[in-house]
Amino acid sequence: MDWLPKITASPRRLLRAITFSAVALVGNGVIRMDALAKDLGPGATAPVRPFRLDQVELGNGLLQEKRDRIKAFIQSYDERKFLVLFNNQAGRPNPSGVTPPGGWEDGGLLSGHWTGHYITALSQAYVDQNEQVFKTKLDWMINELAACQEAITARMKGGAGTGSASWIPTHPGYLGALPEDTVLRLGPPRWAVYGSNLDTNTWAPWYTQHKIIRGLLDAYYNTNSSQALSIATKMADWAYLALTIGDKNNPNYTGNLTRDDLNYMWDLYIGGEYGGANEVFPEIYQITGDARHLETAKAFDNRESLFGAAVGNKDILVVNKDNIPGRRRPYRLHANQHVPNFIGYLRVFEQGGGQDYFTAAKNFYSWLVPHRQFVTGGFGGSYAGTDGNGELFQNRDNIANAMASTGAETCTTYNVLKLARNLFLHEHNATYMDNYERGLFNQISGSRADTTSTRDPQLTYFQQLTPGTPRDFGNTGTCCGGTGMESHTKYQETVYFRSADGSALWINLYIPSTLNWAEKGFAVKQETTFPRGDTAKFTVTGQGPLDIKLRVPAWARKGFKVTINEQAWTNGVAQPGSYLTLSRTWKTGDVIEVNMPFSIRIERALDRPDTQAILWGPVLLQLVGKPNSSNNGYFGLSLYQYLKRDGDYSKAAIKQTGVSTAGDPTFKVTNGSLTARPYYIGDSQIVSSYFRRIEPAVVFGTIDAGVPNRKRNDGLPNYDVPVSGISSPGTDGLTFLDLVWEQAPFSTHDAFVKVVTSTADEFVDAGVYSAKERDSIVAKANQAEKELTSI
Ligand SMILES: *[C@@H]1O[C@H](CO)[C@@H](O)[C@H](O)[C@H]1NC(C)=O
Ligand SMILES: *[C@@H]1O[C@H](CO)[C@@H](O)[C@H](O)[C@H]1NC(C)=O
Ligand SMILES: *[C@@H]1O[C@H](CO)[C@@H](O)[C@H](O)[C@H]1NC(C)=O
Ligand SMILES: *[C@@H]1O[C@H](CO)[C@@H](O)[C@H](O)[C@H]1NC(C)=O
Ligand SMILES: *[C@@H]1O[C@H](CO)[C@@H](O)[C@H](O)[C@H]1NC(C)=O
Ligand SMILES: *[C@@H]1O[C@H](CO)[C@@H](O)[C@H](O)[C@H]1NC(C)=O
Ligand SMILES: [Zn+2]
Repeated sequence: MDWLPKITASPRRLLRAITFSAVALVGNGVIRMDALAKDLGPGATAPVRPFRLDQVELGNGLLQEKRDRIKAFIQSYDERKFLVLFNNQAGRPNPSGVTPPGGWEDGGLLSGHWTGHYITALSQAYVDQNEQVFKTKLDWMINELAACQEAITARMKGGAGTGSASWIPTHPGYLGALPEDTVLRLGPPRWAVYGSNLDTNTWAPWYTQHKIIRGLLDAYYNTNSSQALSIATKMADWAYLALTIGDKNNPNYTGNLTRDDLNYMWDLYIGGEYGGANEVFPEIYQITGDARHLETAKAFDNRESLFGAAVGNKDILVVNKDNIPGRRRPYRLHANQHVPNFIGYLRVFEQGGGQDYFTAAKNFYSWLVPHRQFVTGGFGGSYAGTDGNGELFQNRDNIANAMASTGAETCTTYNVLKLARNLFLHEHNATYMDNYERGLFNQISGSRADTTSTRDPQLTYFQQLTPGTPRDFGNTGTCCGGTGMESHTKYQETVYFRSADGSALWINLYIPSTLNWAEKGFAVKQETTFPRGDTAKFTVTGQGPLDIKLRVPAWARKGFKVTINEQAWTNGVAQPGSYLTLSRTWKTGDVIEVNMPFSIRIERALDRPDTQAILWGPVLLQLVGKPNSSNNGYFGLSLYQYLKRDGDYSKAAIKQTGVSTAGDPTFKVTNGSLTARPYYIGDSQIVSSYFRRIEPAVVFGTIDAGVPNRKRNDGLPNYDVPVSGISSPGTDGLTFLDLVWEQAPFSTHDAFVKVVTSTADEFVDAGVYSAKERDSIVAKANQAEKELTSI
């Protein structure tokens, strides 16, 4: 969200058939009749659509445990704290002794954002289990915010108030925890920049406006609050005026904002950060039919640099310092400043904005995944020779060298998941969901501490990749504290999707849950302990034809077996990284069972294949403990010596030793006797996500071929922007043994020897091995039959 040297140390819908009564005479917008039956929010016009949160109930398990911890915080928190600053601006009294939340929600220039997050979180916390306590808090807050909005606008006729309320708004409908001026001054004629001076600077004012409007829309979607929609619509009316007419009472005002003015605003670091502001206005357009709101959304197009580059698929997230495209953008873009812009572009696309908005979002996403994604599902970091700001995008294909003491900001992943999910609704490519699952079961579920503390939200900010470091939890009043309250209260949102015509049900995630698809007359109950276990059982209620599409995760390399009523399903291939369609006429009581054995997988960093991580099915396993200072602070592991012909790491190299009391699998790495455990465990142990692979010799079990395990020049991408201060990782790719074991399992020893021989031949051809070395390798491989026989 923000980075200043002084604070780095302590960072501190949906498918809905709206009834008439739910939206009767909302605000000053006239509700378009034909909008009433339409879906709202992400994917509203897409071929695949999400379910409303209230249609899916989360069952017990890992995610419910995380959810309940954050719900306990949300429940115990004094909601009056969120109104203090709003009341001040509205000239309304506050109860004595109630203070604002603190953190960045302290009267400083980002104040107000947490109120929006809290409203979203309350509505989500309520809708799953209908606990009244959340609704009561929510309704109270909405009512108070309505009164604040009204009191501020009333000053346009009644005159200024006193104290914090001694300003008169320029346009009607403004609502915020800060004066309207903090938003208007971003634009002409003052062009305020990021800083902390309350009178002259600004800090992501539209980001905060977005969070508040988003909260209100979520309250509307999740609880049918027409009052929330009414406030949001008035805020949108105000936003339209603020972004067209602008700061008209300024003595230096020269007229309406131009496209050029807007471009100049959005390229500004942090000050111009508007988050996903452009996602809410198309939704309000859809609900109200007022086309001005679609125009407002388009006002956020960053047409000077990023939008066009994304349409043209020109990755400009990091550029050379002497060749910066745009008058104001920094040479490295801020990750969480820009990811949500593209969620907004998708919403503009969905409401008729045009194909470019979709193309931009799709291309932008491809710059992130895989080119800047850590194994955790995190993005962004610092790299040698830069300013140390871990909130910024790293160089393309810079993974191993972007592991800094900061990086992988949690709210960036929150937004990338939203983007992946939304893209999937349009292009049903399973890779979007593979990445969603990665982020959800690692970076997001790992972002909440497994404590019962409700003093603060106990959420992460950065989830640093630096080996041998702990995770820090807290984050009252920060961006990640805000998005974290949301993430842990909406775990059911992506489990199931449906086709727009209702003919197909998509099962994207293995998460215990019950879908109640009343419109279709179907319910599906999913029972699973995933990701602690690797099976899932679905019980169907309802009857009739329906395509059920089961996601076959890309990591499911040891099979994906499906039975229906105990009969094996044999129609179609369960290809990892795709969906398997169960096309059938269903009846109540039908049971689908899925078995998808987890295996240990090694993932390599794009830029340095010797920098690796261990995964167990969808879950990253972190190594516990502080590595010695050798290997640049990484654990150094030799694992090939433990492999048998099946290539299965879990047999001897990395063995499961048991299950913790919480149900989490624990592993022992034979080399070094290290403990490995799931990333999602939220405590403050010293852990490492990556290790360095040290395989100096060609070995087959205990048989040493007496030949170095050399690397092949794979022409790996060099950084397109120079990295200074570290030696270039070069173009070397995989080692000889890497390439051999890539082809495991081997059905016979002969098959193994054949691969060894052909790989050695290739290395001879490439000039890496001599013929003599090749002969030694092949001879030793031949001798290793007994050594490599599976146990
Ligand atoms: C909101 O209204 C819809 C349509 O009437 C209804 O299905 C849904 O249950 C309501 N949600 C809540 C939380 O009241
Ligand atoms: C300025 O913008 C408003 C919309 O808010 C529009 O009605 C008006 O015509 C514009 N004025 C000029 C001079 O373009
Ligand atoms: C108007 O512009 C002039 C010249 O740049 C500047 O000195 C003055 O402070 C500005 N006035 C306001 C109210 O911003
Ligand atoms: C899905 O996306 C991946 C990654 O971009 C791509 O390689 C693949 O071709 C896509 N598959 C389909 C069916 O479009
Ligand atoms: C680290 O170094 C200490 C002391 O030299 C040694 O006892 C320990 O085994 C080493 N640990 C690892 C993981 O190499
Ligand atoms: C793994 O084994 C190698 C020797 O085979 C050793 O040098 C290294 O320190 C071990 N790693 C750990 C983490 O103990
Ligand atoms: Zn953040």
